Amino acid sequence: MTKPHSEIDVLLNEQRTFKPPTAFADAAHVNDQTPYDQAALDREAYWENWARELDWFEPWQRVLEWNPPFAKWFVGGKLNAAHNCLDRHLDTIGDKQALIWEGEPGDTRTFTYRELHSEVSRFANALKALGVAKGDRVAIYLPMIPEAVIAMLACARIGAPHSVVFGGFSPQSLHDRIEDAHAKCVITADGGYRRGTVIPLKASTDAAIVGLDFVSTVVVVQRGAATDIGAAPHGEAIEIPSCEMQAGRDHWYHEIVAAASADCPPESMDSEDLLYLLYTSGTTGNPKGVMHTTGGYMTQVAATAKWVFDLKDDDVFWCTADVGWVTGHSYIVYGPLANGATVFMYEGGPDWPDRGRFWELVERYGTTIFYTAPTAIRAFMKWGDQWPAKYDLSCIRLLGSVGEPINPEAWIWYNKTIGHERCPIIDTWWQTETGGMMLTPLPGATTTKPGSVTFGFPGIDATILDEEGQPAESGYLAITTPWPAMLRGIWGDEARYRETYWSKWPDIYFPGDGARIDKDGYLWIMGRVDDVLNVAGHRIGTMEVESALVDHPAVAEAAVVGRADDIKGQAVAAFVSVVEGIETTDELREEIRSHVATQIGAIARPADLIFAAELPKTRSGKIMRRLLRDVAEGRALGDTTTLADPAVVQGLQQQYADSEG
Ligand code: PRX
Repeated sequence: MTKPHSEIDVLLNEQRTFKPPTAFADAAHVNDQTPYDQAALDREAYWENWARELDWFEPWQRVLEWNPPFAKWFVGGKLNAAHNCLDRHLDTIGDKQALIWEGEPGDTRTFTYRELHSEVSRFANALKALGVAKGDRVAIYLPMIPEAVIAMLACARIGAPHSVVFGGFSPQSLHDRIEDAHAKCVITADGGYRRGTVIPLKASTDAAIVGLDFVSTVVVVQRGAATDIGAAPHGEAIEIPSCEMQAGRDHWYHEIVAAASADCPPESMDSEDLLYLLYTSGTTGNPKGVMHTTGGYMTQVAATAKWVFDLKDDDVFWCTADVGWVTGHSYIVYGPLANGATVFMYEGGPDWPDRGRFWELVERYGTTIFYTAPTAIRAFMKWGDQWPAKYDLSCIRLLGSVGEPINPEAWIWYNKTIGHERCPIIDTWWQTETGGMMLTPLPGATTTKPGSVTFGFPGIDATILDEEGQPAESGYLAITTPWPAMLRGIWGDEARYRETYWSKWPDIYFPGDGARIDKDGYLWIMGRVDDVLNVAGHRIGTMEVESALVDHPAVAEAAVVGRADDIKGQAVAAFVSVVEGIETTDELREEIRSHVATQIGAIARPADLIFAAELPKTRSGKIMRRLLRDVAEGRALGDTTTLADPAVVQGLQQQYADSEG
């Protein structure tokens, strides 16, 4: 981990708990902690109260139907997610800002709720005119521009489940996701900006859909069409090259939207109709399509956004995640908009054109709630206090963290340097599969401890179990009762759903995280216990990276492990043995690392790649990843008695040391 400031050391030793800041002490709903009691008394009635805060076209007959491992929430109820995010606000806050956006070059766009409603309705009609119907899957491969939000809501409006694919994923990854979901329509852009360069998304889309004949429609957003990038503060040199449009298949977004009517009644969706698929890495090679439905998901994301962020009318809420991840789905789009909040959205990198960009944005837009990942916090810490110190951050009143364990040093730095010790720090644990937040402090009520996610949100039952399902102080995190936003399955693979999440203990959800509980009942997440890495808050399956490695013609065998990294939490360390007769040069190492980036995306590029004459195996031929982790982290080796050939791993240690030196 990052070397702590000595000041932080002192704080950590003296002050292990943080009482809620006084400014939050009047948060009436949580003052006496009653929601926990209420939820414990009657969990279904408690969630039903939250569901009542949404607009339903038809009421539900039953709150929960639980046939483990399948849950149905608000059974028989009808609603529409886009209607809940837009239409129902028009009479009250139609002229309030819904979305404030800034592009990396500094171009800006804003939408009131009325404007967003109109744009979403037009695009929804345009999609219908292109033949997209209720139930059709639509892939969305866009940069962080308003059209990403608009496209998601337009799909929700017509009942076409979306599958958003992070713009940093490779054509191959996009291909696999479009193929698995059998999406007939792809929404993309000519390009997007990241750290001063153009990401050519349309060209990647063209490559991705080769051979996928069922893709009949591609909608292309012209990134610069609505703004003058040339006139933007950092936009002078940046131009997106024109892209090829295939007649009959490809359509410009601005053309079809201009031709469409803004009157598009929302589709009445069953509470259990699919709202979206979102692919995430697991322990096998191919990512899984996590299924989220409408009623329960909307209920939980709206509830958690409201209480965990303590949303007020005049908040400006900034979640720095990309809409390609679940955090963006639930807390850029559905949760905040269902609450009528003002959402700020930014396209580019935090260090472009300099390392003060985020803080400059906070000051200029008056961000009041800031939600980011520990990896970003650690990077800010490393870049130095002079960057946030240049800007007035007094507008911030609440700070959130998500995606990976936050180390106490980073927590304290965030509290002090960004929050000026005035803001609650809300560390939220959840997953793509859980849909919404699960473990989190409540601002105004919870005394926090740096590094602990504290407790389950009211209505969420979490505990620590051992392998046998017995309560333990240290073991696996377990969720013991169904929750509204839980995944409803894995697209097209029921067996994998049962096996991955429900086979460890009977009828108890296994998230795949190690955790412990302290004497005060506080929960501490220790990280993944399966073959899933968490690199800079992004989930990466070791098997996925291994498949990409062995796909390179020079690679005979590969093993991937995670090693601790100061900034990213974990980094990918790859051990590779090459095909006989091939020379292991630095050029080859670079080529293989790049091959992984081309196959999956830059986030999966191995930080270390060690050529190994042989990989350490047990006598039965199983690769001993535990020993590889020891090697990658420079530790003394654990138990080696089951190794077939102990010399193999000693050779590796030497090579690792040489490569680092
Ligand atoms: O290991 C946990 C870690 O991220 C995993 C979920 O990743 P993903 O589905 O990509 O969703 C990330 C954003 C919700 C979890 O299994 N994780 C997430 N939040 C935390 C965390 N680990 C520790 N503390 C957290 N607050």
